[in-house]
Amino acid sequence: MKVTVVGAGAVGASCAEYIAIKNFASEVCLIDIKEGFAEGKAMDLMQCASLNGFDTKIVGATNDYSKTANSVVAVITSGIPRKPGMTREELIGINAGIVKSVSSNLIEHSPDVIIIVVSNPMDTMTYLVHKNTDLPKNRIIGMGGALDSARFKYRIAEALSCPSSDLDGMVIGGHSDKGMVPLIEKATRNSVNVSEFLSPERMNQIVNDTKVGGATLTGLLGTSAWYAPGAAVSEIVKAIALDSHKMIPCSALLDGEYGIEGLSIGVPCIIGKNGIEKIVEISLTDSEKNKLKESAEGVAKTNTLLD
Ligand code: 2OP
Repeated sequence: MKVTVVGAGAVGASCAEYIAIKNFASEVCLIDIKEGFAEGKAMDLMQCASLNGFDTKIVGATNDYSKTANSVVAVITSGIPRKPGMTREELIGINAGIVKSVSSNLIEHSPDVIIIVVSNPMDTMTYLVHKNTDLPKNRIIGMGGALDSARFKYRIAEALSCPSSDLDGMVIGGHSDKGMVPLIEKATRNSVNVSEFLSPERMNQIVNDTKVGGATLTGLLGTSAWYAPGAAVSEIVKAIALDSHKMIPCSALLDGEYGIEGLSIGVPCIIGKNGIEKIVEISLTDSEKNKLKESAEGVAKTNTLLD
């Protein structure tokens, strides 16, 4: 299975590294506009092959999309990351043009590709790819909820002093500091609701810390995070590669599901060889429904900034 990762910056290189280490792809093509940059990152990553025990072949390319031909999956990470104090939405002016041209280039060489969008503002960039290509909507996936859910579980694990592997928790809604909907009332520790271990105040703190998880790291790092985004992407690509039908919250174009239509936002999706195999409408409390509705209003507002 060939995977293309567009953008050899920190996020893109992490995507390539985690995809390779999980060893389910035959080839990863890492492409960037900066001369030699993707080739260098690919070579550095390939020199880890004997150390990390993977057989995946990682190749680099500079702006030559013919090298991406026949990709089954393509991950778009290109564009500028945010700086401390910025919202993801502020990136739209520059990133929209990049995502538009990248998606067109990808389709030209891989007409049946499944595109995973990471570039921010992610839900709007995902919607842009729907508008800019005639790919079936199940073949365009926005990566946000997988990352936000991992951060959610990190915060719960921190509060419970337990391993994240003990936890189940999902974040839906927009991938934005205000729009995320961490489903705290549904989160469990080994099938026991976390409300049995945590006060309402602590649960609320976890929700708030999750929502600004990206901004917290940008404040510490001076730029956007890359390890967890890369790992989250690799989980979606793996579910496609293995046709595992794993349920992962992803940004999907809705057509009435959850009472929302005409935009892409984070909802539970069954991921398999065809991309989004099914959008799952789970039961939500009135409070969760209202938060998702408000989040969708925020995404719709950002979408209006697309020219
Ligand atoms: C994040 O939240 C890059 O949006 C991504 O870290």
